[in-house]
Amino acid sequence: MTHCDISSWVLITTYLNYAVLILLGQIRDFFHELFIGSIHQTPKGFAPLVHSYEDLYTRRLYRRICDCWNRPISSRPGAYIDVMKRVSNDYNKTIQITDDRIHCLNLASYNYLGFADSPKHVLDDVLKSIDQYGPASASAYGDFGYSKIHKELEDMTAKFVGKEDSIVFSMGFATNSTTIPLLAPTPDCLIISDQLNHTSIVAGVRSTGGAKVTVFKHNDMDHLEKIVRKSIIEGQPVTHRPWKKIIIIVEGIYSMEGEIVNLKRAVEIKKKYGCYLYVDEAHSIGALGKNGRGVCDYCGVSPADVDILMGTFTKSFGSVGGYIAADKEVITYLRKNSYGLVYGSSLPIPCAQQALSALKVITGDDGTDIGKTKLFQLNDTSNYLREGLKKLGFEVISDVDSPVIITMLYNPAKMPAFSRMSLEQGIAVVVVGAPACDTLCSRVRFCVSAAHTREDVDKALKKLDVVGTWTGTKYKVFESQLVNDLYQLVM
Ligand SMILES: Cc1ncc(COP(=O)(O)O)c(C=O)c1O
Ligand SMILES: *[C@@H]1O[C@H](CO)[C@@H](O)[C@H](O)[C@H]1NC(C)=O
Ligand SMILES: *[C@@H]1O[C@H](CO)[C@@H](O)[C@H](O)[C@H]1NC(C)=O
Ligand SMILES: *[C@@H]1O[C@H](CO)[C@@H](O)[C@H](O)[C@H]1NC(C)=O
Ligand SMILES: *[C@@H]1O[C@H](CO)[C@@H](O)[C@H](O)[C@H]1NC(C)=O
Repeated sequence: MTHCDISSWVLITTYLNYAVLILLGQIRDFFHELFIGSIHQTPKGFAPLVHSYEDLYTRRLYRRICDCWNRPISSRPGAYIDVMKRVSNDYNKTIQITDDRIHCLNLASYNYLGFADSPKHVLDDVLKSIDQYGPASASAYGDFGYSKIHKELEDMTAKFVGKEDSIVFSMGFATNSTTIPLLAPTPDCLIISDQLNHTSIVAGVRSTGGAKVTVFKHNDMDHLEKIVRKSIIEGQPVTHRPWKKIIIIVEGIYSMEGEIVNLKRAVEIKKKYGCYLYVDEAHSIGALGKNGRGVCDYCGVSPADVDILMGTFTKSFGSVGGYIAADKEVITYLRKNSYGLVYGSSLPIPCAQQALSALKVITGDDGTDIGKTKLFQLNDTSNYLREGLKKLGFEVISDVDSPVIITMLYNPAKMPAFSRMSLEQGIAVVVVGAPACDTLCSRVRFCVSAAHTREDVDKALKKLDVVGTWTGTKYKVFESQLVNDLYQLVM
């Protein structure tokens, strides 16, 4: 895999780490069966309703470190966040929430532009919309779930991303998973997606009427071109008839890598071979580009060259939900046919209002320069943190200007070590392991926000330095030291 430029020393210890964990798990299971009884809890004569309890990975690997995820919070997800302490008296079989909380610097939420707790006039708009409309519409889009706020949000989103029209969904995930099947409904459609595809795409493709999927190497546009060319030459499997349409799906920023798509090349390829291009801007809308208009803005690509622009309000806008922006014809078709729209409850109006007001701030339509300041602050702070982490010796894989910053941990035991120690130091981070990324490539993700300042970052770096040293995750330092030592030894 692309991001496992893993040195052999780290590779060996990572495998060894898994081997020990699995072996210990097996031994514990053996003695459990011997002295306590079956680990299978299903009554005789019944098939298990769910298998998860019986899964060795869940019981013996995940449960040991499960306290690193699902941590409840008791504050807004702003620059700082209050994380509630939990305890377990049965080795994490059950975990109880206590009233104690830890005030942490928040490097975990997708609050890229800091709209989770500012500016005041956005929050006021939202409160006003709750007064007028209530917390939710209790209705689907086609019944009585559609409001003037939704219409304004759709119009403003389309204008913002540079497309003719757009529709908004109540869930970003469902935006992908219910739109993709409508674009590729039959077996003579081919979807070519990046190898590191998001689950929502996978779910979307599974519910098509048999559309085929191939993947290209992560962000490798030469490989994409090769795959497109090969697919066109070979046509459909068995019959070799030509494909009816080919849709290329990429993401603006890959959320587990912090890498920005090479959109210019993707557009060249799409034009050259007559394919459609679907860009998922979940993490890039609002967070990239001089005007915050996402990856087209950032890469200098005209939005007219991208057929479908998908994004979510969950991240930069501090709300929830997603949108699809495209030509009028496409949007009209989706409006009539999308399950996510027709059968799902509509986006709650206060959330729509939050997204709408945030959009107005970003574009400057609110008459302030808060949006501009936020965009500058996000870019500046992201790059400052990335450079700081690199200087400390962490192995950072993310691209410059990305607000998602990933550093590698590799070894699975380093996930809980890093996560728990960071929490103790008052920093909330997300650690990522299989299945969200490759088994050997466990990592930690930092999400920067415009609400953070350089002082916050300096504070974080000081603490992460300690965490990194203690967990042995400053691989760049470690490796250069190893090379040095070997050199000394040989000479
Ligand atoms: C690339 C990508 N697409 C879609 C989604 C789903 O968005 P939501 O969280 O709004 O459902 C995510 C969320 O993590 C994502 O990372
Ligand atoms: C369980 O969770 C706690 C924190 O809630 C953690 O300290 C502990 O190490 C975890 N693992 C086990 C096996 O108890
Ligand atoms: C699909 O949507 C989700 C959330 O809206 C996003 O995180 C994900 O990246 C998208 N994936 C693709 C491949 O479009
Ligand atoms: C997602 O990626 C995996 C491998 O990286 C591939 O096997 C799978 O077919 C892909 N699915 C979609 C829907 O792109
Ligand atoms: C972000 O910062 C970098 C350097 O720090 C700069 O080159 C770039 O133009 C900035 N981007 C935006 C959109 O401000």
